[in-house]
Amino acid sequence: MSLSFQNRIMLFYSSLFIGVQVLTLLAIYWVCRDSIIQQIGQNLLYAEHIFNRQLSEHGDRMAAEARILVADFGFRSAVSDSDQETVVSALENLSYRIHAQRGFYINLQGKIIADTAGRYQDQPFLYPDAMTTAEAQGQSVLFGILDGELCEWVTVPVLAPLPIGWVSFAIPVDHGLVNSFKHLSALPPDISLLEQSGDSIQILTSSLDRPSPAFFMHEFFRLPLSDFQRPRLVATADTDLLVLIRPLAAANARQQLSAVLQIDLALAMQPYALLAYAILGLSIFALAAVLAGGYLLAKNIAEPVRRLAGATQRIRDGFIDAPLPIMHDDELGRLAETFNFASRMAAEMSDLKAQDLLRRELVATVSHDLRTPLTSLHGYLETMQMHAGPAPDAERERYLAIAIRQSEKVGRLAQELFELAKLECQATPLQIENFNLMELVQDVVQKYQMAASKRGVVLQAKLDSQLPLISADIALIERVLTNLIDNALKHTPAGGLVRIDCLLSAQRVRVVIKDSGVGIAPEFLPKLFTRESLLSRPAGANGGGLGLQIVAKIVALHGGGIQVQSTLGQGAKFSFDLAVAT
Ligand SMILES: Nc1ncnc2c1ncn2[C@@H]1O[C@H](COP(=O)(O)OP(=O)(O)OP(=O)(O)O)[C@@H](O)[C@H]1O
Ligand SMILES: [Mg+2]
Repeated sequence: MSLSFQNRIMLFYSSLFIGVQVLTLLAIYWVCRDSIIQQIGQNLLYAEHIFNRQLSEHGDRMAAEARILVADFGFRSAVSDSDQETVVSALENLSYRIHAQRGFYINLQGKIIADTAGRYQDQPFLYPDAMTTAEAQGQSVLFGILDGELCEWVTVPVLAPLPIGWVSFAIPVDHGLVNSFKHLSALPPDISLLEQSGDSIQILTSSLDRPSPAFFMHEFFRLPLSDFQRPRLVATADTDLLVLIRPLAAANARQQLSAVLQIDLALAMQPYALLAYAILGLSIFALAAVLAGGYLLAKNIAEPVRRLAGATQRIRDGFIDAPLPIMHDDELGRLAETFNFASRMAAEMSDLKAQDLLRRELVATVSHDLRTPLTSLHGYLETMQMHAGPAPDAERERYLAIAIRQSEKVGRLAQELFELAKLECQATPLQIENFNLMELVQDVVQKYQMAASKRGVVLQAKLDSQLPLISADIALIERVLTNLIDNALKHTPAGGLVRIDCLLSAQRVRVVIKDSGVGIAPEFLPKLFTRESLLSRPAGANGGGLGLQIVAKIVALHGGGIQVQSTLGQGAKFSFDLAVAT
């Protein structure tokens, strides 16, 4: 399948644009996606920072509450007096206030002396490291498990003024805490707190709807945790996640506790969807605009080329067309100009060729038409010479009459040839003037009246006095009338009628010359006005055979055509139109 020039331009232009557009969109997508991911990662880091702050502030607040308790004189006295009941009651009081799950009093040897559950007395304290830290820093806030639940362990020394024991509270870090954090955050990230031991993971709490230990194990914890110190993109089967993992300060060094912050990228990118739709909309609009522009551009380029190709084709087919319009003042305009010049040259060349052919034909016709009467003339003159002696007068006179007739014929023929040549070469321009056709017809009829009556033929003109003036070359129209009336009289036997009518129709006057003569055989009618007419040169005929050609040429020069109707034996009717004067 071959595409048109216009379609090829369109195709090239639109594929170029679509290619550039797609590349631009891809570039925008990757650049934006990258910077958006970076931005979300930054926000994730910030959220993690807030979460840590929230935890440590919470721990500090709890430690302050515990310090108030251990600074209380009554509590210290109860401790010194081993008044267990009072100690437990004070621990319970504070536990209730700070939402602790349990409170402990531990002696310097790390043994639990009293606890709010009343179950752990005389047992060693679970997290001795907490006491070491609290001794060094005045308090310790660490994470540890109590009854399978993650707790923030707040431990402070009981000073008198040297440490005489420790008070420790376990405050649960529950689902409510991580959930409230999630809903306070702008992103919002999901938080899961996990305990990892060997190959298994225990989810301590999570803001996810359905947290799965296997998922964490498979997606995150197969990589070293250090990889998640900065937000890391993890592609899961369902979605892309941005993940950050932080270890939690564990009260027991053997325990591995982590906080996993994760955000669904599709969710985080939702605010940018509007921007994406706007870009897409703009791209579609630009594409439509470019396609429309491309169509117009291709049409603009292809149209002159197509016209040029059409004109070239027509010239090749032999039609010399009207010139191409010059619609652009540019290369295309110059191309059309050059083409017009070339086609003008071609037309002139073909005119010259036609004229040349015409001239050759004319010369051939002239030589042929002149040879016949000249040969005849020559023959009779020779005969007269041979009989130069005493030839009878009557015979000499007959020869002389024939010779004179032939020489007249040569003269008339030469005159007609000259006229035809002049008309065909358009040597003299038409002398158009307004005149009264009736008067002209009357004059010509008058001229032939004598000849007509000699032949016994009635010659009449039907004239309408209302006929308007006509606009034509009066001398040439007289020639037309003369030729047609002459023919009609020549071919109408005695007793016949030759009639001339002038009729007004629309803005033209129709002239009809009708006779009741011998008529013309139908096979001769089509070529009657051409050089090929056989009728124009019948052997030994009187006529030179150029009269009708001259008539046709003159009528054509006046912008009309000559028509003939005839039936053999029933006469002939010649008619032509002339323009009414304006
Ligand atoms: N009215 C007519 N009736 C019958 N035949 C006609 C009539 N007019 C023309 N012809 C035929 O057409 C031929 C061509 O006419 P045309 O006027 O061209 O030449 P011509 O009359 O023979 O010679 P010329 O007019 O040059 O003296 C005539 O010879 C004649 O045979
Ligand atoms: Mg004639």
